[in-house]
Amino acid sequence: MPDDQQLLDQARRVREAAHAPYSKFRVGAAVLDEQGRVHLGCNVENAAYPLGSCAEPNAIAAMVAAGGKRIARIAIVGGAGEPVACLPCGGCRQRISEFADDRTRIIVLDDDGNPVEHTVAAVLPGAFRLDP
Ligand code: THU
Repeated sequence: MPDDQQLLDQARRVREAAHAPYSKFRVGAAVLDEQGRVHLGCNVENAAYPLGSCAEPNAIAAMVAAGGKRIARIAIVGGAGEPVACLPCGGCRQRISEFADDRTRIIVLDDDGNPVEHTVAAVLPGAFRLDP
């Protein structure tokens, strides 16, 4: 089972594959599923700007395609140059929440490049659910 640092390292590595010629802001996401497997995603932009996709849903799609059901933990690394503190955007918070619990940990870097964790409940209080 990867620890937080190892999950961040995988996010950092897949970030290098990002297709971000427009924003130059590269993001990598590593999702640990309930079976202990890691699924990776990076952001993929498009010349028709709104069609671009974030790293997190791409990692989640890889998890779902591989049969993963739940996000046990997720690490996200992003930045235009060297990685900076990068939390998931609002839409991605909702997408993560679909497969996570309130206490699921989101691992990112702080301003000094050190790992810092947040919970789903902390970044998305009062998440929309069809069945509250
Ligand atoms: N981006 C992500 O991949 N994840 C986020 O949570 C925030 C933003 C991407 C989208 C776009 O390609 C670039 O970062 C700049 O917004």
